[in-house]
Amino acid sequence: MSLTQFDVQPLFAVPYFRASLADAISKEQVEYIKSFKMLPNKQNLISENLSIFEDPKLASIKKAVQEALDVYAKEVMGISQKLYVTQSWSLINQPNIGMHTHSHSNSIVSGSLYYAELPSPASRMIFDRHTTYRQLVINPAQDKQNIYNTPLNVVTPKTHEILLFPSDLTHQVEPNMSDKPRYSIAFNCFIKGKLGDFRDVSHLVL
Ligand SMILES: [Fe+2]
Repeated sequence: MSLTQFDVQPLFAVPYFRASLADAISKEQVEYIKSFKMLPNKQNLISENLSIFEDPKLASIKKAVQEALDVYAKEVMGISQKLYVTQSWSLINQPNIGMHTHSHSNSIVSGSLYYAELPSPASRMIFDRHTTYRQLVINPAQDKQNIYNTPLNVVTPKTHEILLFPSDLTHQVEPNMSDKPRYSIAFNCFIKGKLGDFRDVSHLVL
């Protein structure tokens, strides 16, 4: 028997969201964020301040990020509750430095904001389908790779772009192969509002 007719359909898919926030970021703000005190973070550098969006000098950026989160909640998640930023920080990846594999705990949606000019090449963000130890590593052949079976997918960020993605998604950043620092902001978000049903004893007000 030779089976030539079959059908494959998606059951679920994982989104990522991208939009330009160029209009909300001034040259002064870029220089201001670059001047933050930075601390060592495994390989790269992370700002000492972990609530940078609360800085009054970054109010226009905070507002634009909130607008993106409002669109994501309504249009991508399809929910009426509100997403809000819990922590926000800046990062610097010096030449040859990337960002280790990780995911974000106690967060529903996470994001990156490429507030400054990205170096070339920009260092891609690599998303990993697997969130735990892989007992069996069964990767598809190169010419059979598709959205259903790929173990990894990559996103090349653009200057001034915001990227939003589910916080449980494992990701890493490629080493910076340019001779300039790669600047970015990262943040976590949680949800505000009412969940569940009172009579169903699943009611939760956040
Ligand atoms: Fe991250």
